[in-house]
Amino acid sequence: MGERQRKVHGIMVCLPFQGHLNPFVSLALKLASKGFAITFVHLEFLYRKLRDAHHANETDVDFFSGARELGLDIRFTTMADCFPLEFDRDANFPEYWETMARDFPALADEFVGNVVSSEPDMIHFLVTDTIHNWPAAVARKYNLVNVSLWTQPALVYCLAYHWDLLEQNGHFPCKDDVEEEIKYVPGVESINTKDLMHYLKESQFGSVPTRMMRLVFEQAKTADFVLQNTVEELEPQTLSALHKYLPNYAIGPLNFSKNLPTNTVTKSLWSESDCTDWLESKPPASVLYVSFGSFLHTNKQVLEELAYGLVLSEVDFVWVIRRGILGHGETSLLPTGFQDAVRERGLILAWCDQIKVLSNPAVGGFLTHCGWNSTLESMWSGVPMICYPFEHDQPCNRKLVVDDWENGVNLCEDYGSLDREQVAHKIKSFMNEGVSGKNAGRVRQVMQNAVEIDGSSERNFDRFVKDLEAKIHAQN
Ligand code: UDX
Repeated sequence: MGERQRKVHGIMVCLPFQGHLNPFVSLALKLASKGFAITFVHLEFLYRKLRDAHHANETDVDFFSGARELGLDIRFTTMADCFPLEFDRDANFPEYWETMARDFPALADEFVGNVVSSEPDMIHFLVTDTIHNWPAAVARKYNLVNVSLWTQPALVYCLAYHWDLLEQNGHFPCKDDVEEEIKYVPGVESINTKDLMHYLKESQFGSVPTRMMRLVFEQAKTADFVLQNTVEELEPQTLSALHKYLPNYAIGPLNFSKNLPTNTVTKSLWSESDCTDWLESKPPASVLYVSFGSFLHTNKQVLEELAYGLVLSEVDFVWVIRRGILGHGETSLLPTGFQDAVRERGLILAWCDQIKVLSNPAVGGFLTHCGWNSTLESMWSGVPMICYPFEHDQPCNRKLVVDDWENGVNLCEDYGSLDREQVAHKIKSFMNEGVSGKNAGRVRQVMQNAVEIDGSSERNFDRFVKDLEAKIHAQN
């Protein structure tokens, strides 16, 4: 068989977080829908978590069997990480990621090597989340085209890409209590130091996230293709500046790509409570949705001030309080009497189908930590945001939402602590006066246009597929 007839096969290794898994699954389905064979790989512990949350009585669940029944060539498999299954990765985050950074590359090398040698009739390529530190070396070793998916805004990629430049200008490590405008990063007109990613800050210097992200970005520069889960019209300057350095394609919002059987794939790491009936008893745009994503931990003071703020605001709300949000061993999350005080107008859930909630007409606002998926999902649904960022990319995402796209407001100016009166005042004025979302309709339209058949994200994806095929065939 000539080289050009050999099936082209993508090996996709996911990062074990909800905010990374969701767009990664969409990308797998998108690639398969273009005729590539795909092997989708979960870490074993994540597979168990998903299986136990949704398929408790089954032992061997293939998350992609539904997609395969629809004609897509996707196989599913798992691989071990560096710890026993019962190890609590969430509670031991630094130890887990420290070890992963050191030891996982050898496991990934062995895993990919086995796939490649067991399928000699196929041409393989590698697709990984940018926040893996091993793909560059593994791709080089097995002569694989290396595709990297960045699940945060291009702004964050661009800042981290120019890490050395930030360092040369004294902004890495960046002093926590100094506010300065940075205007020298190509593609970033201006950003205040307070809005930088937390791992660039002095207080994080030497921490696991800082060391991890620096390593990640050193090797990310050698990727053959970088896919950005953003929209060209939302970040035109940043994306166009990045084009000078790397083949870069804005293909978002991936969670809303059209004509994909995403509903056939189990993705939610926790089982979801349905609040549709409750929402349907509420007037349009009257409910505030409150959630801080799948990953971060906060403290009791924040939850308490928010709880009292919600009581004082008199606004109806759905609040997702993830189990473990305060860290482990903490059971009493909310002030005594809170549930009674908000009986008719507040719903507390441990987890929900967020996209479904945001698309319900009763929801008029989203108090969010500004995780990038939450940001995209809110904008897609035309729901303006009250922004309360904590860490990682979230401060940058806040800047985009509030300062650049004018699609939300800040919960407070100083993110260190919260005050219940201030929270109540902000929520009340946001929900009652609609001051915040003057651009929600426009941004929504931009996003919805991007995923149409002739929209920028679809065109960029088609261009990527063409470039990928050309590169694969040139290299094999
Ligand atoms: C993390 C980072 O914090 C985020 O900034 C980065 O962009 C991706 O990795 P996370 O904190 O979990 O993600 O936030 P986010 O990106 O918003 O992702 C959360 C996902 O969980 C969203 O897709 C959301 O729809 C989903 N979710 C959240 C639910 O399905 N149900 C819920 O109850 C809450």
